[in-house]
This record gives sequence, C-alpha cells and structure tokens, in this order.
Amino acid sequence: MKVTVDPDRCEGHARCWEICPEVFSLDEQGHGRAAAPEVPAELERKAAEAAANCPERAITVS
Ligand code: F3S
Repeated sequence: MKVTVDPDRCEGHARCWEICPEVFSLDEQGHGRAAAPEVPAELERKAAEAAANCPERAITVS
C-alpha cells in the first residue's frame, strides 16, 4: 500500500499526522506529507483511517 498527499489540496488540518504519525509528518508550514509512502502492512489500517479523516480528501491510498 502507498499513500500520497496532494499539496494543492492539503490545508494543514494535521489529522493525518495525529492519527498515524508513523506514516505522515508535517512540513515547516504544517502541511502533511507522506514520510513513509510505502506503508508497512501493520500500519495499513491506521494509514487508511488517516486518509479517510482528511477533511480536504488530500490523501490518496493505492
Ligand atoms: Fe493536510 Fe489532510 Fe493531513 S489537510 S495535514 S493531508 S489531514
């Protein structure tokens, strides 16, 4: 499983990082990014939950 954050959609709500800090981090402007784009199997459920909770739908899971 892979995750990506669309920088054009991200508004810095930080829910991704709050829910799954193992996969998502925040840059210096507080925008989310995938620190671990290749999500380990044991973190897939949390990463998917983070994606579902992004109010801007900025996170793509593939
Ligand atoms: Fe951005 Fe959504 Fe995370 S708006 S900081 S990708 S919760």
